[in-house]
Order: sequence, then C-alpha cells, then structure tokens
Amino acid sequence: MGASRGEAFMLTAKGEAMDFKNLRVEIENNIALVTINRPEALNALNESTLCELKSAMAEFHDNEAVQVVIITGSGKKAFVAGADIVAMQQLSALEARRFSHLGHDLMRSIETCAKPVIAAVNGFALGGGCELALSCDIRIVSENARFSQPEVNLGVIPGFGGTQRLARLVGKARALEMLLTGDMIDAEQAYQMGLVNRVVAQEALIETATEMATKIVNKGPYAVRQVKETVRTGLEMDLDRANQYEAEMFGLCFATLDQKEGMLAFLEKRPANFIGH
Ligand code: HXC
Repeated sequence: MGASRGEAFMLTAKGEAMDFKNLRVEIENNIALVTINRPEALNALNESTLCELKSAMAEFHDNEAVQVVIITGSGKKAFVAGADIVAMQQLSALEARRFSHLGHDLMRSIETCAKPVIAAVNGFALGGGCELALSCDIRIVSENARFSQPEVNLGVIPGFGGTQRLARLVGKARALEMLLTGDMIDAEQAYQMGLVNRVVAQEALIETATEMATKIVNKGPYAVRQVKETVRTGLEMDLDRANQYEAEMFGLCFATLDQKEGMLAFLEKRPANFIGH
C-alpha cells in the first residue's frame, strides 16, 4: 500500500489502485487517514460513500501496512451530518431496509476490523454520522463537535445501529433521551456522558488522533488486534464465558514471537522490536 498524504487513491496489498470519489485516503507510518469528502452535503452518507468506506475497511482489515485507521470529515463544520436525506427521501420500504443493511454492514466492518479505528470528529456528527462515530473504537472530538440522533424530526428512527450502540455505550436512559428528543449535545456533554474519549481544540484534532494512533502502532500488532477482538467478543458474552475467552486469547499470545520479544526487551531494559506474530 503505497499512497502518501495528498493522493486521492490508495494501493491495495496487491498493488492495485483503489480510486475513491467521496473519500480521501492517505497512508503514512502505518496509519490510514480516511477523510469523508462531500462538503456540499456536509459529508452526508449516500450509498456510494457507504460502499467506498466498506471497500476501504475491507482493505485495511487485510493489509499489514495499515495498523490503525483514523476516520474524519472534510472541512471544519461537519464530521458527517447524517445519512443523505436527498437520497433517502424517495426510498420505498424495501429500499430503505436495504440502505439500512448497507450501513449496518459498514459499521460492523469497522467494529470487527482487525485494526483499531479512531473517529476524529471535527464538527456535526448527526444521525448516521453519530452512528459512524459509535462504531469506531475511540472518539476524539474537536470543541465544536455536536452529536444528535435527530431521526425522529424526520419521522424515522436510526438505521445504522444508533438505537443499539448508543444505549450500550451511554446507558438506556441517556440514549433514549437523545433518541426521543433529537436534541443536539455539545462536545463537553458528550464527554461527560462517556460518548467521547477526548475533547481537543479543532487545530489539534488530527494531530491528537495521530499521536494516539502512533502510540498504538508502536505496540505489538498481534496484541493490539487481540485486545480489540477480546473486548468486543467478550462484551457479547456472559462474564464467565468472557473470562474463559480472555484466558484462551492470553494463552495464544504465548505462541507468538512478539510475546518472547516483548518480555525479553523489558528484562534487557530496551525497546521491543515487534514483528506482529
Ligand atoms: C443531505 C445535507 C444533510 C444530510 C446537510 N445537508 N445535512 N444533505 N443529507 N443529512 C446539506 C444541506 O441540505 C445544505 O445543502 C448543506 O448540506 C449545508 O447545510 P445547511 O443546512 O445549509 O447548514 P446549516 O444551516 O449550518 O445546518 C447544519 C445542520 C443541518 C444543523 C447540520 O444541515 C442539518 O440539520 N442537517 C440534517 C441533519 C440530520 O437530520 N441528519 C440525520 C439524517 S437521518 P444546500 O444544497 O442547501 O446547500 C439519518 C438516518 C441514518 O442519518 C440511518 C439511515 C438508515
């Protein structure tokens, strides 16, 4: 994968170019920075943008040159202002269900991606935009970030997982308040309720996300992958089974060279040189 900052395409692990209309993908130091780029619609998610994001995530999942993904929106005003209302307005019930499934597939591919995904939320994260941020592992947001699930204003409900992931993250009562009122909350309120990890100045947003990504890139890639997988899978189990699963995953780490190197490096008082297996 050889695309560098500023190029609007990326090369896959097989060396093929991936050309995107609504995304910019820039890869540097094992970090993929994905910018959703539909400024005319405040980066609203239409079908082609969802499909492009899904292709990019599939590539990141498999490509060892990418160890962490950052998703952001173009401009200073919006991360993603929701699913595209122009595109949704005329959908039939079956088409709407298909659109919802497409979004679900994308959100799940982010959640199950072998690489951690950081949302760098640079403004409005509304409806599908909030749902996109919710599917990421970590949310770093600028001071002007605003979150809402305003679907009830449009006579519909969230369809990219918002009724489920929001309640799981912030609890049923807080989620229902947002879902039933459609009210917008600011970055500080989102931080207070545990919806976001950090609030930073807008100018520092990508830098902060990149710093965190770099920290993760420097850890053992196998262990990083297993942490994400074990937390996600364990949360879907009861505690006894989840602890058993953790023990299995912990044991597997000892079949890797990274475990041997990590522990030896500690004892030799030097940085570890991880190789990812
Ligand atoms: C399509 C959108 C859009 C959206 C904004 N735009 N949001 N187009 N879909 N979700 C367009 C506007 O129509 C406008 O286009 C341009 O972006 C700039 O937006 P303005 O409204 O002029 O800007 P502003 O007054 O600053 O208001 C910003 C805003 C507002 C508060 C973000 O645009 C807004 O409320 N947007 C809709 C938010 C929303 O309801 N999202 C949830 C969608 S439902 P023009 O051509 O006029 O310049 C959803 C369901 C997900 O996400 C699940 C699906 C299965």
